[in-house]
Amino acid sequence: TEQTLVLVKPDGVARGLTGAILARIEAKGYALVDLRLVEPDRARLEQHYAEHAGKPFYEPLLDFMMSGPSVAIRLAGNRVIEGFRSLAGTTDPTTAAPGTIRGDFGRDWGLAVQQNLVHGSDSPESAARELSIWFA
Ligand code: GTP
Ligand code: MG
Repeated sequence: TEQTLVLVKPDGVARGLTGAILARIEAKGYALVDLRLVEPDRARLEQHYAEHAGKPFYEPLLDFMMSGPSVAIRLAGNRVIEGFRSLAGTTDPTTAAPGTIRGDFGRDWGLAVQQNLVHGSDSPESAARELSIWFA
């Protein structure tokens, strides 16, 4: 069975949505293997977001991710990588489909970075890499 890294990002934790997000994950049938509250330093985020280095939203993204704790989750299940991204919805909360986490709870704050509540690994390679970063 497959594993993925899910993050409830600082906006989700600060808005008190961790429980609502976990409820959707559990209702879908995925298994919580490990879960922790993390306040990542810049070095950890540079590793996590290496693919975005140099993009216009990169520095705002790192600042946002250092603005408060995230909940890191090691999640397991059949096709959980694809399945969690489906639960999360597309990146932009304004156009994410209703019924998804981002579509139902995400708001456009008009900021330099999308505050879109959650992260989910996008491939088996990303999942292995990201799980080693957040669950070292
Ligand atoms: P994650 O699950 O968080 O990785 O989201 P994603 O895979 O849907 O998006 P991606 O990996 O492309 O980008 C990582 C994060 O950077 C996003 O979740 C947003 O917070 C932010 N981001 C990505 N693209 C943009 C963009 O075009 N504009 C802005 N402002 N922020 C972006
Ligand atoms: Mg991504």
